[in-house]
Amino acid sequence: MMKAITTRNYGSPSVLQAEEVPDTVPKDDELLIQVHAASLNQANLVLLKGKPFLARFAYGVLKPKHKIPGSDMSGVVKAAGKQVTRFKPGDEVYADLSNYGFGSLAEYVAVPEKALAMKPANLSHLQAAAVPLASLTALQALRDAVHLQPGQRIMIYGSSGGVGTFAVQIAKAFGATVTAVCSKKHMENMKILGADHILDYETVNLTKYYGSFDAILAINGYQPLSVYKKLLNKNGVYVMVGGSVTQMFEAMLLGSLSALGSRKKLGNFLKKHNTEDLAELTSLIEAGKIRPLVDRVFPFQEFKEAFTYLDQHHAYGKVVIKMSN
Ligand SMILES: NC(=O)c1ccc[n+]([C@@H]2O[C@H](COP(=O)([O-])OP(=O)(O)OC[C@H]3O[C@@H](n4cnc5c(N)ncnc54)[C@H](OP(=O)(O)O)[C@@H]3O)[C@@H](O)[C@H]2O)c1
Repeated sequence: MMKAITTRNYGSPSVLQAEEVPDTVPKDDELLIQVHAASLNQANLVLLKGKPFLARFAYGVLKPKHKIPGSDMSGVVKAAGKQVTRFKPGDEVYADLSNYGFGSLAEYVAVPEKALAMKPANLSHLQAAAVPLASLTALQALRDAVHLQPGQRIMIYGSSGGVGTFAVQIAKAFGATVTAVCSKKHMENMKILGADHILDYETVNLTKYYGSFDAILAINGYQPLSVYKKLLNKNGVYVMVGGSVTQMFEAMLLGSLSALGSRKKLGNFLKKHNTEDLAELTSLIEAGKIRPLVDRVFPFQEFKEAFTYLDQHHAYGKVVIKMSN
């Protein structure tokens, strides 16, 4: 038996429980990983609560399909199936399991070889677990949706959370001029991450910046689409990575409509699983160009507190759960 955090019903963090579950057995193309650390993302809260309701069509209408939650993890290979070629027992690996059945909030998880990348050598498991989902989102949104170019001016709105802290660093690594928008308490941190200009979302007068940006990455759609549109210059691109269902539909359906008559592009974005991208992020981390920001590490037994803390939406970077020593 192994210990795991489980959920059988949708609800608040109180529906989560720690229990002993049968050992997981890897298939021929899978590896058995001992999880050392797992990190939480807002997507884990969507799956925990079953909200927005639309998400239930993918993850279980009445109750969660996946009993053991958790997508981001870092750990050590304990055993490899017969068909595995790239990894061997003892390798330190990390992954985003959101396309592979979740399950990172357990002592062990069986993971297909194609989901895994070698952990960055210069990170601990606690740091590495903070990387996959948020950094893949930031990389793909900036590279594939924004098509960010050196010298472009980008606004990153909601810059101090899991996705935002990576987005600021990756945009700088791409050679862009970054305006980070966050709360007052994180302004100094944004400077340390390399942001060129920093705005406090509580006091900023956005009208002063209308027409200023080649691109906007809106991490949570905190402003109406009409405001983001005015902040763009005439060829500007707006990409939204999170936000309410209404905002997502607005960006998706009305994006092209509201851009009619201008060359501006407005839309949203969904991360795709891509192990090559995770390997690229590993290279950026090992080259010292980007690093994960871990706000808090919770011991295993405080998993409910970890979910509750994330649910407050003010973490600086990532929330991590230490799964083993
Ligand atoms: N499209 C995709 O594929 C994809 C992938 C990953 C995530 N997402 C979505 O992206 C969103 C952000 O994820 P995350 O992991 O970065 O979340 P997070 O870590 O919880 O980030 C929250 C951040 O939002 C900021 N914030 C809170 N209230 C704000 C306000 N009124 N105005 C501006 N910023 C505010 C906070 O900054 P302060 O502490 O400074 O207030 C905090 O740093 C979520 O909706 C998530 O579901 C989408």
